[in-house]
Amino acid sequence: MSKHLINLEDLEREGIQELLHLTDRFVEVTQRPIPKVPALRGRTIAMLFFEDSTRTRMSFDLAAKRLSADVLEFPTHTSSLSKGESIRDTVETIHSLGVDALIIRHNLNGLPKEIADGVGEAPSVINAGDGSNSHPTQGLLDAYTLCEHFHGSAGPQASLSGIHIGIIGDVRHSRVARSDVYAYNALGATVTIVAPKSLQPSDLTDWPVQISEDLDAVLPTLDVVGLLRIQNERMEEALVDSIEEYVESYGMTEARAAVLRDEVVITHPGPVNRGVELAETVLENRKNVLIKQQVKNGVPVRMAVLFRLLGSGVEID
Ligand code: CP
Repeated sequence: MSKHLINLEDLEREGIQELLHLTDRFVEVTQRPIPKVPALRGRTIAMLFFEDSTRTRMSFDLAAKRLSADVLEFPTHTSSLSKGESIRDTVETIHSLGVDALIIRHNLNGLPKEIADGVGEAPSVINAGDGSNSHPTQGLLDAYTLCEHFHGSAGPQASLSGIHIGIIGDVRHSRVARSDVYAYNALGATVTIVAPKSLQPSDLTDWPVQISEDLDAVLPTLDVVGLLRIQNERMEEALVDSIEEYVESYGMTEARAAVLRDEVVITHPGPVNRGVELAETVLENRKNVLIKQQVKNGVPVRMAVLFRLLGSGVEID
């Protein structure tokens, strides 16, 4: 396995299964009275979040601390970026301080790969979400959450075979959709993208998915309703006529939730636009809404990634 994690395509099916199986072990660690192991003692992990984040940033931070690594925060708003220092020089400066991993989120597609190509084998570069391109640890945690829900854990041969997953909404701007599709497909699930033409990416016909614009036609066939956030910050023009029309055609409203089989699960990477992708009452009251479990699993999944990339030859305990 590479020393970097830039996208899930680099891992392929076996690499994804290996990380999900390792996650089983870190779920056990996080359930202990003292959920901390010395595995990465002496390692330093720098967090370079050039774009806002709550879940990814805090769970990487917690994952690193639970592995006993030192965490170096990079405060973008008070750094020398404000004096015109380039990202390249910033990365070289942090590299010179002596870090073992750079966790990078940026709104530019491909920036983590560019940085990884520049640093060579060390430090490890981990993509925490780049533009609309890739969010590999979200893909891993979403796949883990579904394996855990349907099978109790990932196990050595994690599989989502026989499960039909819908990914619904703003696929065009979604790095999560790209990583989820790769992970779900690699684990044997059937995936259907449901979105209006204006929110479908131009290369969608190359994806290993079925495609529909009609949520109500697809809904009765789904085992998993994977909702996506409408990403207003990435839209250069209005791609939906109105929020009301979007909710009417693609929102998980109370009426739509009422016709779902009880065992159908709902996922969303967060943050949720309440009342748009998902009705407040469905979010609060429906059984099998896995959003909090997705967030919770972000910690052991990211512990597995950090341990796999930085803990070569080290025991977990
Ligand atoms: N799902 C996700 O990436 O959330 P954050 O932007 O809060 O990290």
